[in-house]
Amino acid sequence: MSIERTLSIIKPDATLKNVSGEIISILEKNDFKIIAQKRVQLSNKKAEEFYVVHSEKPFFQELTEFMSSSEIVVQVLESENAIKKYRKIMGSTNPAEAEKETIRAKFGDSIQCNAVHGSDSEENANTEISFFFSGLEIIG
Ligand code: CMP
Repeated sequence: MSIERTLSIIKPDATLKNVSGEIISILEKNDFKIIAQKRVQLSNKKAEEFYVVHSEKPFFQELTEFMSSSEIVVQVLESENAIKKYRKIMGSTNPAEAEKETIRAKFGDSIQCNAVHGSDSEENANTEISFFFSGLEIIG
């Protein structure tokens, strides 16, 4: 077991539905420490930079337009095995396939509007955290 950090995004569909507080409450109940958090709106260019690994995918334009369409909440979560643990609590990318009680099953509407994002590896977590936060904005 090791203490890890992961980057979480509460996506535009969830902030528009006013469920960011409910999602944050789930994170706290699962013993994540929120060591950085802010509410921002991405430009389309910034969304393209963030999702550059998906730039060849057919859904890239749709994805970046959606991610820049309204406000998001970006967070750094810390806990034991944070990366795997958050991915389990989020559920499958497609909310229709997500296990009951997961965040995406509860709040996601489609594979695109799936409420939250979480880093998928330690390397990507570090890159994604640095994309949104400077060292001074992170507690600890
Ligand atoms: P996320 O974890 O933010 O990582 C990439 C995102 O691309 C993913 O969640 C989905 O919201 C989105 N995505 C993945 N597959 C598709 C798809 N087939 N159509 C539209 N969006 C997708």
